[in-house]
Amino acid sequence: MSFNHDHLLGIEPLAPSDITTLLDLADQYAALNRRDVKHTDALAGLTQINMFFENSTRTQASFEIAGKRLGADVMSMAMQASSIKKGETLIDTAMTLNAMHPDLLVVRHPQSGAVDLLAQKVNCAVLNAGDGRHEHPTQALLDALTIRRAKGRLHRLNIAICGDIAHSRVARSNILLLGKMENRIRLIGPPTLMPSRIAEFGVEVYDDMARGLDGVDVVMMLRLQRERMDGGFIPSEREYYHRYGLDAEKLAHARDDAIVMHPGPMNRGVEIDGELADDINRSVIQEQVEMGVAVRMAAMDLLARRLRSRRSNAGKPTEVMV
Ligand code: NCD
Repeated sequence: MSFNHDHLLGIEPLAPSDITTLLDLADQYAALNRRDVKHTDALAGLTQINMFFENSTRTQASFEIAGKRLGADVMSMAMQASSIKKGETLIDTAMTLNAMHPDLLVVRHPQSGAVDLLAQKVNCAVLNAGDGRHEHPTQALLDALTIRRAKGRLHRLNIAICGDIAHSRVARSNILLLGKMENRIRLIGPPTLMPSRIAEFGVEVYDDMARGLDGVDVVMMLRLQRERMDGGFIPSEREYYHRYGLDAEKLAHARDDAIVMHPGPMNRGVEIDGELADDINRSVIQEQVEMGVAVRMAAMDLLARRLRSRRSNAGKPTEVMV
């Protein structure tokens, strides 16, 4: 099995076999993370820099912990406070960092496409930690690992993604990944929060939770991405919760063993009932966070193997064995 990518910029370029390779390795790291001693030396000697141009709690912490457990020298830069814009300034920042010889660069940016642009300017491995409403590949991978562990498989499942699809990079990466793995995807949300031409992605679209959730195996809720809305997309939070917020009554339409997911941060009482979010018999929200560290360890390990073999065979085509 092989993983032949220099960067992790999105789910789009990945083959189903790449996804399986990454999830299999992440399962091993999930086991390591449950042990008392959680260290390996997969990234020993390498430098990882985290650049988050947008607020983040779990993703930034997760990448930082992942790098440290793999033995990398990890530095997180505080980008939010500065007024950096896309374009020249972003590239200048990238070039400055590049001169310090980092090996892995983890980047979150409010502009779609900014991380791809940056990857073209540096000679280290770049991981996209979320760019605008474009992609958030490690989130989709950790969701996939959580689903695979809960359901015992990652194909032929009925999966509902609910809420603010239009502004969500989580939805976009998940639609790509779950589609590649041959699942049936339903999108549920108000028409104002549904991207135009979404049917081209081979999904079913519903604006009614009861109908959309009927018989599904997985219910994935999304946050209302207010920071990306420039007008009135919903009448009121109360009305939104009434129609689209997940509670026990709406969940009753799904399969009895359906799992409930949310990428966080969640707004209790807006997208999801607080009690349901905490119900360990239905909700896998904490497992998602746990799997996040394992998936990021796997992604950085695979990219570092590729980086090392590229450097030692400079110029020759490489194949990384896993
Ligand atoms: C998501 C993101 O930033 O795109 N959060 C996350 O990474 N866990 C989803 C969100 O912000 O709603």
